[in-house]
Amino acid sequence: MIRSTPLDDPSRNTSAYRMGRHALLVICSCLVHFFSSSFEFKNLFLGVRFQATVSDLQEAIHGRILLKLNYVCDDNRPYDSSPFAVKKYYPSRQRLTLPLQAGSQGKPIVLVPKSKLADYCNGNANNLTVVFKDLGIQVSYSTLFFWEYLGPLIIYPICYYFPVYKYFGYEGERVVYPVQTYALYYWCFHYFKRITETFFIHRFSHATSPLSNVFRNCAYYWTFGTYIAYHVNHPLYTPVGDLQMKIGFTFGLICQISNLYCHLILRNLRSPSGNGGYQIPGGFLFNIVTCANYTTEIYQWLGFNIATQTIAGYVFLIVASLIMTNWAFAKHWRLKKLFDGKEGRPRYPRRWVILPPFI
Ligand SMILES: NC(=O)c1ccc[n+]([C@@H]2O[C@H](COP(=O)([O-])OP(=O)(O)OC[C@H]3O[C@@H](n4cnc5c(N)ncnc54)[C@H](OP(=O)(O)O)[C@@H]3O)[C@@H](O)[C@H]2O)c1
Repeated sequence: MIRSTPLDDPSRNTSAYRMGRHALLVICSCLVHFFSSSFEFKNLFLGVRFQATVSDLQEAIHGRILLKLNYVCDDNRPYDSSPFAVKKYYPSRQRLTLPLQAGSQGKPIVLVPKSKLADYCNGNANNLTVVFKDLGIQVSYSTLFFWEYLGPLIIYPICYYFPVYKYFGYEGERVVYPVQTYALYYWCFHYFKRITETFFIHRFSHATSPLSNVFRNCAYYWTFGTYIAYHVNHPLYTPVGDLQMKIGFTFGLICQISNLYCHLILRNLRSPSGNGGYQIPGGFLFNIVTCANYTTEIYQWLGFNIATQTIAGYVFLIVASLIMTNWAFAKHWRLKKLFDGKEGRPRYPRRWVILPPFI
């Protein structure tokens, strides 16, 4: 049951109120299901005198308020063997959802931290059941991006400057063509720009990401970085013509600068704290395409490949384009759903998704 006082209650601002904020969030509940890292908290009884938020519940789970009560009413399981015995489920590790109805095929509703628990009670203020999922150890988004970009930034110069090819059976002097030197500068500029954008430009809505994503993303970027660096700097590499090289690098650089400009536009859609949700991006290429930053990213890799012309580079271009196209569709549909033109909301304008005039 959630008991609440009106939001404008002056007592909400007192220190007693703040102190009681956690103490009063008492959850007399039974932990009924234990399945992997998922649990279901049934019939949450929230003895609070104000409207508790999802965030309060997450703090309560982290603070093990649940455990102590659960220990009393649960079976004879020893205190320390309980999944909540260690205070490790900090809020960003938690995913709370409403249980799916039996036979339902859809995705469960995820509880938003800033929302009130009462909003999810569906009229039945005495009862709320939520499903808890442990998302695993979390790292900040900037940590994730930094490590995935650092690999290519280091691996590429190693292939260029160091005699790595002698370990693959290629003895003798390696002739370095101008295109290989320009490709090194282009590559390093790209990944240096991305690390700089991560720390100084992007305003992420999610503070953290699972640690497992660091390994997955590093595997992707580091493997492709090695694959391309190995082939572009190879002693048997055959350079393209001078004109093709100039066209490729010039086009690619224009796209890299455009990509930076797109990220500055996205940055200005949010406050410095990352608040502001999702807005309709506008200006520059965003006037015609939803994910202009992905469009310019794809075209800058095309420029690099026109100049260097390796199978490895084109394979990466195809894989990266498929990944970004998939994400672009999700972002496009999210904006169309958020800005549906109903109840005073603006309608999302008609736009290409990622690669005009095709998609
Ligand atoms: N080569 C590859 O395989 C590859 C793959 C993916 C990305 N990339 C590159 O890495 C860059 C960053 O990737 P990303 O996927 O993180 O980019 P992203 O999600 O499109 O956008 C970058 C930042 O802008 C924010 N943002 C996006 N749309 C917004 C909107 N409508 N309103 C307010 N804020 C919005 C994002 O917020 P959220 O935190 O809420 O998302 C994020 O902080 C890409 O632009 C691309 O250059 C390369």
